[in-house]
Amino acid sequence: MVRSILQIRSWVSWGWSTPLERAHSIEDVRLLARSKVPRVVFEFVDGGAEDGVVVRRNEESLRAAELVPRVLVDVSAVDLSADLLGTPTVVPFGIAPTGLPALSHPHAEDALADGCARRQVPFVLSSMGTRSNDEVAARGTGRAHWFQLYVWRDRVAARGLMEEAREAGAEGLVVTVDVPVPGFRPADVRNGLTVPPTINPRSAFGILRHPGWLWSFLGSGGVDRCSFGSTGAALSDLGHQMFDSAVTFEDLAWIRRIWDGPLAVKGVLDPRDARAALDLGVDVIWVSNHGGRQSGRAPAALEALRRIRGEVGADPVVWFDSGIRSGQDVAVALQAGADFVFAGRPFIYGLMAGGAAGVERVFEILTDELVRALALVGAPSVAHIRERGPRTD
Ligand SMILES: Cc1cc2nc3c(=O)[nH]c(=O)nc-3n(C[C@H](O)[C@H](O)[C@H](O)COP(=O)(O)O)c2cc1C
Repeated sequence: MVRSILQIRSWVSWGWSTPLERAHSIEDVRLLARSKVPRVVFEFVDGGAEDGVVVRRNEESLRAAELVPRVLVDVSAVDLSADLLGTPTVVPFGIAPTGLPALSHPHAEDALADGCARRQVPFVLSSMGTRSNDEVAARGTGRAHWFQLYVWRDRVAARGLMEEAREAGAEGLVVTVDVPVPGFRPADVRNGLTVPPTINPRSAFGILRHPGWLWSFLGSGGVDRCSFGSTGAALSDLGHQMFDSAVTFEDLAWIRRIWDGPLAVKGVLDPRDARAALDLGVDVIWVSNHGGRQSGRAPAALEALRRIRGEVGADPVVWFDSGIRSGQDVAVALQAGADFVFAGRPFIYGLMAGGAAGVERVFEILTDELVRALALVGAPSVAHIRERGPRTD
């Protein structure tokens, strides 16, 4: 008896693991995140526009896609390195810009920027970020960041933000064009996450059940430190100031004249818009439906990617986000023609689940899954899966 117990002990390795280490998929990280923050915060990140159809459509189309294995290929050392406008990166994916990340963790941008820098991927600071361009640049990660801009109603303020980003050393600019009006997310209204916020009994109760979150949120200065701080705008004015329903391609042409560095236009879903933006000299078409947070009936981002790649041909640089929940999804997007892939919610789940360690865990999960996905389809590198192209049969 004692002998068999000793034998079992020698087979099994006894080790304590943290909840994050026990998270083996993005869904595991998501569930952990849900337990860590008040409902109002979790649903702000997790939720989608209107009835949530587009969030599901994004995920389902990526899951329905097939990667046909080629066999007898040496995949003993899968190479994930990619190219981002001429600069090498360690992995072919990064973090999409997300607003108000300090709601999810007090050191949100630091953790996100460090995670990106370790992979030589530029961090994209949101227009609604909770750090300034200067603060992100001063972090000294060794890889210059990009700045994401909403074209403000006040064009002088918009220009000021671009100049500030440039002076802080931002390498590139992402102009997000899919917010002519803010999307309607019912969960945020129910939870009182409106502009200005309304504390209702439901959200107050949820917040009080997470004193640890409340303590660190208040200690961090909340969302007072903002990437738009220099404009003097108050958070309560954002709806009016930041989103302009009258932005057109003329404004994009104006930005192209002002911004002489790399320029990406984010939120393109129609091949005609992709073509028009390229004709204006934009460097990157970023295919995205904002993770299903804007239009309630937008096409699945993957379908839009296929159509846009089909229209613009192989040369223009096309980036992709919306619905990525695994390394397999990244492989699908690369095969469908994306040059680089971004995920939004997965990294914010990571932040909620464990700050910097959570962001690292999400990078690890996506990386391991992508290596396995490429090995199993016989693609020893990112270039191989990209060259294979979408199925045509
Ligand atoms: C909480 C949250 C905040 C976001 N804020 C911004 C933003 O400030 N600017 C922007 O261009 N996109 C923003 N997005 C959209 C993301 O950049 C990205 O398009 C989207 O998250 C991709 O979908 P996914 O979450 O399914 O990966 C936000 C998304 C989330 C989830």
